[in-house]
Amino acid sequence: MNDWWRDAVIYQVYPRSFADGNGDGTGDLTGLTGKLGYLKELGVDAIWLSPFYTSPLADGGYDVADYRDVDPRFGTLADFDEMIARAHELGIKVIVDVVPNHSSSAHPWFQEALEGRNRERYIFRDRPNDWESVFGGSAWTQVADGQWYLHLFDPTQPDLNWENPEVRAEFLDILRFWLERGVDGFRVDVAHGMIKADGFPDVGPREGCQVELLEQERLPYFDQDRVHEIYREWRPLLDEYDAMAVAEAWVESPQRLARYIGPDELHQAFNFDFMMADFDAKSFRVIIDKSLAEAELVGAPTTWVLSNHDKYRHVTRYGSLARAKAATLLMLALPGSAYVYNGEELGLDEVLDLPPELREDPAFLRTGHSRDGCRVPLPWSTGAWPNPWLPQPERWHAITAEIQESDPDSTLNFYRAAIRLRRGFGGGILWLDAPDGVLFFRRGDRQVVVNISEHPVPLSGNVLIASGPLTAGGELPPDTAAWLG
Ligand code: GLC
Repeated sequence: MNDWWRDAVIYQVYPRSFADGNGDGTGDLTGLTGKLGYLKELGVDAIWLSPFYTSPLADGGYDVADYRDVDPRFGTLADFDEMIARAHELGIKVIVDVVPNHSSSAHPWFQEALEGRNRERYIFRDRPNDWESVFGGSAWTQVADGQWYLHLFDPTQPDLNWENPEVRAEFLDILRFWLERGVDGFRVDVAHGMIKADGFPDVGPREGCQVELLEQERLPYFDQDRVHEIYREWRPLLDEYDAMAVAEAWVESPQRLARYIGPDELHQAFNFDFMMADFDAKSFRVIIDKSLAEAELVGAPTTWVLSNHDKYRHVTRYGSLARAKAATLLMLALPGSAYVYNGEELGLDEVLDLPPELREDPAFLRTGHSRDGCRVPLPWSTGAWPNPWLPQPERWHAITAEIQESDPDSTLNFYRAAIRLRRGFGGGILWLDAPDGVLFFRRGDRQVVVNISEHPVPLSGNVLIASGPLTAGGELPPDTAAWLG
């Protein structure tokens, strides 16, 4: 079996914000095709595309109206074919998002359901229960004839009824459609959501919102055991095309997460614990150890991720570019695969001051928290994106890809060098003694030092790469990481 994904660097493309091929202010597939050379040079093994399917974009495309077509704002199926052919020519694999938990309310199936036909493809009830939407408020919306439908996310994202064989057959067919077009795998959106507990039991009165309970207990609408039947049904199809799948599953423990992975289910699951860790040596170490132990248990390597389209960019979470680069060097030194989110290689930070009227995230409308700030279009060069769908901050003019290209000390060239050097790592990690606040381990014939303490640490060995300048005496300053070999 072809298991390229085991130690791959996978670059997440948010198509709307990555590159604009036709100058209309919205990113698109031809824009992406034009940047594949850039991605090749960055050294990534694969790209994962967030949804580019026909959609009202009520949730940035995670509200799909036609699973077998490209939204005209992003291009056409022919553009997709051209993109994937070019990517494969360059040796870059292509993973696409599949959104099976819910469709868009604009999907013809839901439109029929609203007219009172074939409602059993969704979850309609005469009375709502107390379940809450991840985006805030009740998870139920009433339709004109008095029934209610379930939407774990926005009301424009009705949950599909996975108890209905027609829904199951439809998704097998959708997967096959994209496999036939040559995709190398799928990222499964809300992979823990499709099956709901029998009888739709209430969660019961709780402090705060229900989704905060996720890490402590199993909610009746997430991570139900029978969801695994679905992946066992998908796996032979994936195997037929030698394709992989990675789960986005928010569950209460690494043990529960491990259940999604295996020879008869999915290949990987995102390890969000690493992304959620504080910038602190102890938290990183605990999570790394836990993740590696779990990975061992299921015989599949873990994944690492620091930024994506749902969370504040790690430059902003950690408070500085220096810290973000140190964390990146840590991530890229770990065994398993690393997911890099578009723009992190430029050192982009979160855009926190977007005017409220420009914010589109449905979560913002319902909760006041917005994910728009990590979705601002990438600064390729000054003027490259005349009228971006979200405005780029002035400060990004100094860190465009064009400027960074020719600066050997830029974040972009740092990412390129680190991704290239990463290939020289092999084997597991062995922790070495280090002062408080310092992560220090050996992997093969290399050593990795991450200084999260307040004092510089001496280095012994040949520095292959560092995330920032060393002190005059050759020591590793605070908030800096290095690979030695
Ligand atoms: C996933 C996506 C997120 C989306 C949600 C609903 O969590 O990453 O962007 O809003 O699913 O589809």
